[in-house]
Amino acid sequence: MIRLLLGALAYWPRRAWRCLTEDGWKAAVCRVLGIAVAFGIGGLLFIALGLPSIAANQPHWPVTRVFLEMVMTHTVRMRTLGKNVPPLDEPALVLKGAGHYATGCAPCHGAPGQPRSLIARQMLPTPPLLEKDVQNLDPAAMFWIVKHGLKYTAMPAWPAPKREDEVWAMVAFLKQLPELDPVEYRRLAYGDATPEAGIGRDGAFLSTLAMPPQTTLDNCARCHGDDGLGRGTGAFPKLAGQREAYLYASLQAFARGERHSGVMQPIAAGLSDAQMRALARHYASLANTGIGPVVGAAKLRTVADPAAIARGRTIATDGIGERRIPACRHCHGPGAVARNSVYPDLAGQYADYLALQLELFQQGHRGGTAYAPIMHITAATLSADEIDALAAYYASAPSQPPAAP
Ligand code: HEC
Ligand code: HEC
Ligand code: HEC
Repeated sequence: MIRLLLGALAYWPRRAWRCLTEDGWKAAVCRVLGIAVAFGIGGLLFIALGLPSIAANQPHWPVTRVFLEMVMTHTVRMRTLGKNVPPLDEPALVLKGAGHYATGCAPCHGAPGQPRSLIARQMLPTPPLLEKDVQNLDPAAMFWIVKHGLKYTAMPAWPAPKREDEVWAMVAFLKQLPELDPVEYRRLAYGDATPEAGIGRDGAFLSTLAMPPQTTLDNCARCHGDDGLGRGTGAFPKLAGQREAYLYASLQAFARGERHSGVMQPIAAGLSDAQMRALARHYASLANTGIGPVVGAAKLRTVADPAAIARGRTIATDGIGERRIPACRHCHGPGAVARNSVYPDLAGQYADYLALQLELFQQGHRGGTAYAPIMHITAATLSADEIDALAAYYASAPSQPPAAP
C-alpha cells in the first residue's frame, strides 16, 4: 500500500524530469514551460515575502517609470484618435474652467503663484506642475485624461460623467494656463474675492441674517459674484433674486448627486443643511439687477435678436399645442401666477446658461430636484432655434424684485 503511494508520488516528478532531459521538440516545449512555472513560483514568493517596495517615498525603478508612461501615452493616443474638438476660445468656457481649477485641481497641480500642496508633493507619481506640462498634450488628450482620470496615479475622474461640456470648459482653461501670470490667474479663478478669503472683509451687511459664514460666501462669490449676478458671462448662473425654495432644493440635489455638475457637486456636498438654508435665503434676498461686471472681452452667445425674442415670448406664453409643449409661464413666470415655490424664475437669467440647461434636459444629462422629470418631457422636442429663442426671451424679460425676507 505504502509502496503504491510512493510510486504515485514519484510518478509526476519522474515524468517531468524525463520530459525536460529527452531530445526533440516535446522536450523543448517542456523546458520553456518549466522556466515559466519557475518564474511564476518565484514571483509569488517575491510577493509573499513582501519584497516589492510599494512605498511612495522611494522612487520608481526607471523601468517601471518608462513602462507606466508608455502605457499612458499609448492608451490616451489610441482612445482619442479622430476625436472632434469643439471651439474652445469662448471666454465663458475659460472662466468656468478656471473657477473649478481652483477648487479641484490646484491643490495637487499648483497654479501660477500657488505651489502644489506639500501633501500632493509626497504622491508617486507626483502630480506635475500643469502650467508647464500641459503644453505637451493636445486638447483631445487633455479631455480624455480629465474625464476619465488615470489609474495607478492619484489623478481622479471628472465627478459628473454626464457633463462633457464641463470637461471641455476645463480643457479651454488648461490651454490658456501656460500663458497666465499669477495676477491673471487670480482674476479668472477668484474674481473680486480677496486672496485672504474671509479675513478682514466687512461682514456687516450679513450680521443681520442667520448667516452663512463669510468664508463660504467668499467661495461662492468666486463664481457667482459677491452680488449673486454671476460675473457677467453666462458661465455661472445668477442666484440673486432666485426663489429661496428652488435654491435650497438645487443645493440639496447637487449634494446628493441628483443634479449633475462636476463643478457644483463637490461644493454642495461640503455644505451642511443649515448652511444651505442660509445661503438660499441670502441669495434670494439680493436683487437681480442686470449683469455683473463683465470679465475680459466676454460676449453672450445668444444675440438678443428682436424676432427671436418675440418667438420665445409666444412659446413661453402659449406653448406649442400641437406638439404638446406647455406654456413655460405657468411654471416660470414672469408675471403673477400662483406656482410651486420650487419652480425657478427664469426672467433676467443669462441666455447662455438657460440654453445650456435646456440642451442638458434634452440629453437627459442635467438631473435636478424631484421635479426635474417635468423638464425632460418639456424640453424633449424643442428645436435648437426654439431653445435659443426661449433663452433670448427670458434673458430679456425684466426680473421680479426679490421676495421680502
Ligand atoms: C489628488 C491629486 C490630483 C488632483 C486633485 C488632480 N490631479 Fe491631475 N494628475 C494627478 C497625478 C498624480 C497625475 C499623473 C502624473 C503622472 O502620470 O506622472 C495627474 C495627471 C494629470 C494630467 C496629465 C499631465 C501630463 O502631463 O501627462 C492632466 C492634464 C491633469 N492631471 C489634469 C487635472 C485637472 C484638470 C484636475 C482638476 C479637475 C486634476 N488633474 C486633478 C493628480 C491629481
Ligand atoms: C467654481 C465655480 C463655482 C463656485 C465656487 C460655486 N458655484 Fe454654484 N454654480 C456654478 C456653475 C458652473 C453652475 C451651473 C451648473 C450647471 O451647469 O448645472 C452653478 C449652479 C449653482 C446653482 C443652481 C442655480 C440654478 O439656477 O439652477 C446654485 C443654487 C448654486 N450654484 C449655488 C452655489 C453656492 C451657494 C455656492 C457657494 C457655497 C456656489 N454655488 C459656488 C459654479 C460655481
Ligand atoms: C409644469 C411646470 C413646468 C413647465 C410648464 C416648464 N417648466 Fe421649466 N422647470 C420646471 C421645474 C420644476 C424646473 C426645476 C427643475 C430642477 O432643477 O429640479 C424647471 C427648470 C427649468 C430650467 C432650468 C433653470 C435653472 O435655473 O437651472 C429652464 C431653462 C427651464 N425650466 C425652461 C423651461 C421652458 C423654456 C419651458 C417652456 C417651454 C418650461 N421650462 C416649462 C417646471 C416647468
